Amino acid sequence: MKVLVIGSGAREHALCRSLSLDPDVTALYCAPGNAGIAEVAELHPVDALDGTAVSALAVRLGAELVVVGPEAPLVAGVADAVREAGIPVFGPSREAAQLEGSKAFAKDVMAAAGVPTARSYVCTTEAEVDEALDAFGPPYVVKDDGLAAGKGVVVTSDLAAAKAHAAACERVVIEEFLDGPEVSLFAVTDGETVVPLQPAQDFKRALDGDEGPNTGGMGAYSPLPWADPKLVDEVMETVLQPTVDEMRRRGTPFSGLLYAGLAITGRGVRVIEFNARFGDPETQVVLARLKTPLAGVLLGAANGTLADLEPLRWSGDAAVTVVIASHNYPGTPRTGDPITGLDEVAAQDAPHAYVLHAGTGRNGGSVVSAGGRVLSVTATGAGLVEARDRAYRAVARIGLDGSQHRTDIAAKAAGA
Ligand code: AMP
Ligand code: GLY
Repeated sequence: MKVLVIGSGAREHALCRSLSLDPDVTALYCAPGNAGIAEVAELHPVDALDGTAVSALAVRLGAELVVVGPEAPLVAGVADAVREAGIPVFGPSREAAQLEGSKAFAKDVMAAAGVPTARSYVCTTEAEVDEALDAFGPPYVVKDDGLAAGKGVVVTSDLAAAKAHAAACERVVIEEFLDGPEVSLFAVTDGETVVPLQPAQDFKRALDGDEGPNTGGMGAYSPLPWADPKLVDEVMETVLQPTVDEMRRRGTPFSGLLYAGLAITGRGVRVIEFNARFGDPETQVVLARLKTPLAGVLLGAANGTLADLEPLRWSGDAAVTVVIASHNYPGTPRTGDPITGLDEVAAQDAPHAYVLHAGTGRNGGSVVSAGGRVLSVTATGAGLVEARDRAYRAVARIGLDGSQHRTDIAAKAAGA
């Protein structure tokens, strides 16, 4: 099978790494990709937001499966363009991707499907904002309605800060604060059959101890030793299947990856958000543990045959990923700094630990930073303690001036 992956982040590197290990994959392409993905896939330049360009590239390469990684192309309708060209595509239509593209739309679907989530108001005027903030009280949760790369959400007890964020957005969702640990659960779906993956936990805040601003995600681990073993079944029954059924009922079936961001509250599981694609950095740890070859799973979702898929097989190992981010991330990051130590990790830590590139590029012979989240170091081990040790040992070999990473990824779960 010839596979083309669209995107250029660590998620796409993780997808390409897994696909490169799949014996059914005869050719692997990535567009536009990054310096690390170039080691496992043939790169092609493309504007990932341009459906016509992406489908033309897929046709030219003879791709038999196109995997659209990030949300922006999905919301722009890139999967529709590829599907219209007659090529199976992993990723929802423009309309179905609204589950991620509009928080207000997602709330409407959840209400119709009876899916448990935070109570919320959609506000467009200052008076509505004031009323909603007053109704819920602190801590305030203020969300930009549209896509914001994980940075559109402000959770604060400072009323002035909550109002300022609301004023900076065109349309906001203001909602009840959900207390409790967060879990990311991904499911692969063809619009009807839903196949859950293993749960993971993401670390959204920039600094140790969950301090600092929200980011796209600074690290992740899986499995979750503290979680109820029935969690996946419960989320399947109360969240994933009803949502997929409701999208089909509306005539806009959702196929691809449905990502449920969940809070495990004292009153039960609640959805914090949906995403319409694999999460980053959770994908790095979930795919590190998936033993079933990936291409057939994604193809089954793309062509509506997931009901025929054998049950997924999982490694008993644990996985941990630690993100290394540029100076000043999640503010405007500094880029162009050389990255050292990549060869040392490859020589000394593989195959248990490896680097997945996100914002990297080449400057002559050297790899340099080119974005906010620069790379993520992923490691596996017999348990979280070993996976964590291996990940941080590899992180220590990597040099990037001014870079930052959290030192407490998976620490609590590992009992460290
Ligand atoms: P989102 O982009 O909706 O995932 O929000 C980003 C992060 O903000 C989440 O991972 C949570 O840590 C936090 N958050 C979002 N909504 C809520 C909520 N209702 N209660 C508490 N924290 C929230
Ligand atoms: N890890 C959060 C996200 O992918 O949105």
